[in-house]
Amino acid sequence: MYRSQDCNSLRKSDIGKQVTLAGWVNVTRDHGGVIFIDLRDREGLTQVVFRPEENAELAKEAHSLRSEDVIEVSGRVAARLPGTENPDLATGDMEVIPNQLRILNRADTLPFPIDAEPQNEDLRMRHRYFDLRRPRLARNLRVRHRVAKATRDYLDTQRFVEVETPILSKSTPEGARDFLVPSRITPGKFYALPQAPQQYKQLLMVAGVEKYFQIAKCFRDEDLRADRQPEFTQIDIETSFVTPHDIFAVTEGMLAAIFKAARNIDIKTPFDRLTYREAVSRYGSDKPDRRFGMELVDLGEIFRQSSFKVFRSALDAGGVVKAINAKGFAGITIGQADELTEIAKLYGAKGLAFIKIENGEWKSPIVKFFSETEKAALQSKLKIAEGDCIFFGADKWEIACEVLGRLRLRIAEMQKLTPAAEIWDFLWVTDFPLFEWSAEENKWNAMHHPFTRPKAEDISLFEAKKFREIRAEAYDVVLNGVEIGGGSIRIHEPQLQEKMFEALSISPEDRQAQFGHLLRALHLGAPPHGGIALGLDRLVMLICGEETIRDVMAFPKNNRGIDLMTQSPAEVDPRQLRDLSLKLGKDKKP
Ligand code: AMO
Ligand code: AMP
Repeated sequence: MYRSQDCNSLRKSDIGKQVTLAGWVNVTRDHGGVIFIDLRDREGLTQVVFRPEENAELAKEAHSLRSEDVIEVSGRVAARLPGTENPDLATGDMEVIPNQLRILNRADTLPFPIDAEPQNEDLRMRHRYFDLRRPRLARNLRVRHRVAKATRDYLDTQRFVEVETPILSKSTPEGARDFLVPSRITPGKFYALPQAPQQYKQLLMVAGVEKYFQIAKCFRDEDLRADRQPEFTQIDIETSFVTPHDIFAVTEGMLAAIFKAARNIDIKTPFDRLTYREAVSRYGSDKPDRRFGMELVDLGEIFRQSSFKVFRSALDAGGVVKAINAKGFAGITIGQADELTEIAKLYGAKGLAFIKIENGEWKSPIVKFFSETEKAALQSKLKIAEGDCIFFGADKWEIACEVLGRLRLRIAEMQKLTPAAEIWDFLWVTDFPLFEWSAEENKWNAMHHPFTRPKAEDISLFEAKKFREIRAEAYDVVLNGVEIGGGSIRIHEPQLQEKMFEALSISPEDRQAQFGHLLRALHLGAPPHGGIALGLDRLVMLICGEETIRDVMAFPKNNRGIDLMTQSPAEVDPRQLRDLSLKLGKDKKP
């Protein structure tokens, strides 16, 4: 037996007991020959004190202990001397006076100190097993476990069935690049790792499962960011005979159960709803962060007849003029203004006009183009006051909104507008466009995926090819400005699915080759169905208050898709390539 209890359990009532503990040497201090050790296991810390006057030999042995050595100690539980208690520790009133010490393993020189926040992420990732000993990350893994368990428990009460779907599968278009796996048995052919179990879950509806879920691994070869990994986990849900309201209800119930289980937080349901159009018009984003104001204000009415060319021509061309009022930001530095201008340009603006209100004066080169009426209207519409800074966007609706939306987020960071207290602002964004135009490919693409159902009242727009105006029966769930999930009601009629493929310029041959199985299934009595998928990593990240999903994944990849610990991806033996009938290009040869 290595231990009689864990390192977080000793209390006053244990005084005098003989106990055995095992764990890692968290810190060791030598106070004139007396060795103090904080012994750590996954539950907590207990102080162990080796006093030469009690046991000289043990104290001498303890002297050799270093951080992260693994030990087992047996001894008597005692109260700490008055005045030396540690109120921050559950075991802070107690210590163990050992009569036996067993060194189970020694630790080498450590890659970084475990009790500080290491700055070098590469170093952390190379020694991830060591990094994960840190209490914050250890806590995150446990929260993640509780989230997954609450998910399964809740969906079980709602009579959902967890079904596993293949990892070696066929490409489902979710908008990213596929990871491919060459087949040895069928040379020249490839499996694709699933970007999501989308087609399988729809086929399970045709199979009559009715209520499916899966905590599913998904794989997408795309550019990585703080909230994107090449392999991640979804809470994937699909149900038959449902409307969006049914999906909203089950998602809200599940999220309430998750927050209760993970953090004992009661979240408010039902969530607010905004259409895509409203969300983008007011916040410049389809995943609005509503924890602060600074909404986009439309100024079209004010400038329709303006003599300021930049605004007037945007409106004449069918675009918009919008602005945000950054309260109290008149002290903006030149560096900040340059950065914001760069952001505006990055998202397609030709420039960034702004006005600072200082000492009762409107400071900006553009003010001279405004009439007194325009100024008065601006003043009242934007509630302009001393110290404000107004930023303008004059462009096509999409560009002006996106630019101001990006500026809004960055300015909120610069001004530290997000309240320090935890807020859980959940929101449904509905009525997404069904299509988006790809200038690069010169064709319409599905904004979500090609199985998304158009809204019934917009189906007639297919005939007129008014693809831009067709709205989808699609929705996202947003938490504090992060898209934590998305889904839709699907197309269950083969004719409508064909119409959709046609709009997407997928040839009949390609339809058969890529989606023949699905089209065939739709012909065999597919029920109306729909679903959603939540990004489990993003959800846990927010629940844990982390900035990146890497901190809630046990073994993440870095932002170049590399696992620094195992050094994967890695070269393979040429024999393995030969087995797969693969040849590397000359420049890629090992
Ligand atoms: P979607 O592509 O919107 O929908 O993905 C659903 C949710 O998964 C999370 N997510 C990611 N998390 C981490 N890293 C990534 N690279 C990543 N990509 C997506 C997001 C997102 O909201 N099959 C559809 C769902 C459906 O229609 O039911 C789908 O996959 O939180
Ligand atoms: P210009 O007439 O190009 O000198 O622009 C006058 C001011 O308007 C400058 O401050 C530009 O940065 C700004 N500006 C130009 N185009 C836009 C636009 N599309 N939206 C917002 N501001 C703009």
